[in-house]
Amino acid sequence: MTTALSSLVDLKHRFRTSRARIHKILKRKPLWACQPGVLQIDTTNRRCPLNCVFCNPQHNFIDSSGDLPLSTIEHVASELKRNGIFINYARPWMNTDPTVENRLPEICAILKKHLGCRIDLFTNGVLFKKRHMLVDENVDDIRFTISAANADLYNEVHGRPLFSEAVKTINWVKNNKLRHHRMWVNFILFEKNAHDLHNWQEMFADFKQDIRVLHYGEDRLTSSNVAQGSEDLLSTYRKGLINKLIAQERPCTCFENMAISYNGKFMQCCDISYEHNWGHVEEIDIQEAINKRLDVGLNHEGCKGCVQKNPHWKELFEEHVWS
Ligand SMILES: C[S@@+](CC[C@H](N)C(=O)[O-])C[C@H]1O[C@@H](n2cnc3c(N)ncnc32)[C@H](O)[C@@H]1O
Ligand code: SF4
Ligand code: SF4
Repeated sequence: MTTALSSLVDLKHRFRTSRARIHKILKRKPLWACQPGVLQIDTTNRRCPLNCVFCNPQHNFIDSSGDLPLSTIEHVASELKRNGIFINYARPWMNTDPTVENRLPEICAILKKHLGCRIDLFTNGVLFKKRHMLVDENVDDIRFTISAANADLYNEVHGRPLFSEAVKTINWVKNNKLRHHRMWVNFILFEKNAHDLHNWQEMFADFKQDIRVLHYGEDRLTSSNVAQGSEDLLSTYRKGLINKLIAQERPCTCFENMAISYNGKFMQCCDISYEHNWGHVEEIDIQEAINKRLDVGLNHEGCKGCVQKNPHWKELFEEHVWS
């Protein structure tokens, strides 16, 4: 893609993001204090081909599996539209991998048709045979999660010896993506791989990079994993995560997300178990459920003990929602 075209694509994304800022000025409240701006749908929770040591959903609460009917996906999208809810972007398949969903093109088309939102795919890219799905025309951002720069460490972090498959797929996508597609490579940073960050940055220098400090599931990881000499780096990124929440006046990492489980439940948060939900989307009034979720905020049972909160989250709710 030429530089001019990629700047135009970036501009389009920036314009959507500025709608959230305009909302804040007009309503004098951040978007999250009125409605969710991000839609996460687990249209399926078939097990993902990897076994990442940090993966919360696959280890902690995906114990049953199924597919969400297309009619339910259509219902959610059309209800959001009918209620005038601005969805900035959709991130389907947060709790598994998009490449295990054979209906991906139909699902992206439904989301685009009703919501006009940006669609982000997060993928491990290890199913090389499914690579064509990633360059779907309705997808905007393709984000690979590759949290190591060599095969041995990849095996330790992601649980399967598929580093070369992931690299093969990312290179194929680079050469075969459509002009509007933006590509990212994500690194989930934690004790086990912090020492490899620099190599990873060099190895994937051709891509936009997103380094995300591991923010849940740490209880599964023992202190013996600590990478010698990486403590400062880790603590900088961890503080950075909290400082970003404070600076952006967000209550936690996920409150702005509306998460739908594979069995149709409007979940409190996609990072916690399915039992914490506001009912089946076809049996509830979605707007009413959004209002109830705002009333409860992070006092919800499922949010107890979560470490992804802004230390000032209560003040934010008092100022923008509860007053
Ligand atoms: C759950 S994954 C699902 C999509 C895909 N399978 C993948 O790994 O990219 C969505 C994103 O959340 C990240 N993620 C998973 N576990 C995490 C954790 N404990 N802390 C922070 N991010 C995490 C993944 O690495 C990925 O970038
Ligand atoms: S690739 Fe994604 S969904 Fe699969 S185990 Fe890893 S983080 Fe979880
Ligand atoms: S407090 Fe934690 S569990 Fe609750 S919505 Fe925020 S990120 Fe999710």
